[in-house]
Amino acid sequence: MQIPTIETKEVAKPGSTVWFKEALIYQLHIKTFCDANNDGIGDFQGLLSKLDYLKNLGVSTIWLLPFYPSPLKDDGYDIADCYNVHPSYGTLDDFRQFLDAAHNAGLRVITELVLNHTSDQHIWFQRSRRAVPGDPWRDYYVWSNDPQKYSEARIIFKDTEVSNWTFDPVAGAYFWHRFYSHQPDLNYDNPEVRAAMFNVVDFWLDMGVDGLRLDAVPYLVEREGTSCENLPETHAYLQEVREHIDQKYQDRMLLAEANQWPDDAVAYFGKGNECHMAFHFPIMPRIYMSLHMEDRYPIVDILDQTPSIPDNCQWAIFLRNHDELTLEMVTEEERDYMYRVYARDSRARLNLGIRRRLAPLLNNNRKKLELIHGILFSMPGSPILYYGDEIGMGDNIYLGDRNGVRTPMQWSADKNAGFSRANPHSLYLPVNIDPEFHYEAINVEVQETNLSSFLWWMRRIIAIRKRFPAIGSGDFQMLAPTNNKVLAFTRTYETQTVLIVINLSRFSQAVELDLKPWAGWTPEDAFGHSRFPVIKDTLYPITLGPNIRTRFNQLHATVPMVSQQGAQHYQC
Ligand code: GLC
Ligand code: CA
Repeated sequence: MQIPTIETKEVAKPGSTVWFKEALIYQLHIKTFCDANNDGIGDFQGLLSKLDYLKNLGVSTIWLLPFYPSPLKDDGYDIADCYNVHPSYGTLDDFRQFLDAAHNAGLRVITELVLNHTSDQHIWFQRSRRAVPGDPWRDYYVWSNDPQKYSEARIIFKDTEVSNWTFDPVAGAYFWHRFYSHQPDLNYDNPEVRAAMFNVVDFWLDMGVDGLRLDAVPYLVEREGTSCENLPETHAYLQEVREHIDQKYQDRMLLAEANQWPDDAVAYFGKGNECHMAFHFPIMPRIYMSLHMEDRYPIVDILDQTPSIPDNCQWAIFLRNHDELTLEMVTEEERDYMYRVYARDSRARLNLGIRRRLAPLLNNNRKKLELIHGILFSMPGSPILYYGDEIGMGDNIYLGDRNGVRTPMQWSADKNAGFSRANPHSLYLPVNIDPEFHYEAINVEVQETNLSSFLWWMRRIIAIRKRFPAIGSGDFQMLAPTNNKVLAFTRTYETQTVLIVINLSRFSQAVELDLKPWAGWTPEDAFGHSRFPVIKDTLYPITLGPNIRTRFNQLHATVPMVSQQGAQHYQC
């Protein structure tokens, strides 16, 4: 094994332009979090009152799902006005107040930029459908008389849509839509659309938003004879967006939502001149597979297939989000496996995915929940937590679409889980009363008072991650011990090396690690600070119990260690 090279990389420091490399992102929809005016819908004033909670959890960045005026047929991704706040959530001033308060608390804020489409209620579409061909408004969207055009593009919402074209009787033509038929795609061949979206970008960045998640970004441009995904013209436009924001702002971030294989996903970084971040979609189902198979192969394999990324870029990694757990970036065999072990009940399936929350997916098994977060928090990339997963919230697969994973945050055992004082019937979605995940038991208040709760465990592991810049910004090196139930790797940044050893199995395991490049170093357990034997020029044996005890809690088989020694030891 080679001694890791010490590169001087850009590492995230306060005020740094690469702050996102060490970000820990908390994802929430404003309507789900806290209802301050008691109308049954969460709002900005409610979120403001919970900033301390997020600060104490240790996250650094809040990602807000769409909060703009919208008919809400796709939870706000169907935007009717890109320049305002949906009245249920408050006003633009409330948003500004929240943004300032978040910044004062040292938290950054990411919002949604939906470039690909709008709601059919957007004024642009209303003008476009009424415009005669040749009128500039017509060209805002993609119209055709032939619904066979672009027939090689797949249908994404395959449970609800039968075609990417829908006939509009007002226009007397078909319009193109990659998602719901109430979400017409904008026409990126039209320079006016391209410019109009720059104005939207400026509006929110001028206000102080730190980052934009670029929703559904592979589908901006269509070309005959292609899948209409990841086209060079789409990348060219994104590079224009990047150039535009780099000229005007210093430290803003673009996060690409491109549900693609690693080779196509890395293209969204360009040469470091496109998006700063991109979701690593394919690694997510493989983490679940490795966990169930008790074998590191799926994770190792997908990382092997992942090209390296420019130094000023970062992956965004996650376990769950507001959508179904997508199984688009797996083989058919792998999908069958995932359905078989994680979604036996067909109601849990939606499109090509599984509409469940993390805790029910893992049978509410605390050890597995800890293990999977151990993986999330140490892999290359900035982790994203989905609201409620830090307390192990459950879901409700009897609600339609993806609503089962979008129920109110559970704050306490009070009325409506402490989320709202409204009449329970008026809540935007019912609170969770499943016997196993009932809000009276699974809530923040209960977990606050018990230092052994999952919430406290999460706070601790987040604090540990934050102690080690190597985990956010360091080089990643996989180890290859013969015992494939053990996942082991190192993260190195300058003089700091963190060794992560994860027992994927329910049972004790022994493993011998090739740590020769660190001969002379003394590993120290990051959780309890206990020292391990000094590393020698031979294989290093470690035994991993299924229930390793640490000073804090039962820590399921995750032993991050760090050497305290200095740079000169790289010369050993
Ligand atoms: C993204 C969003 C999803 C939405 C879709 C269409 O995939 O994550 O929630 O339905 O875009 O806007
Ligand atoms: Ca409200």
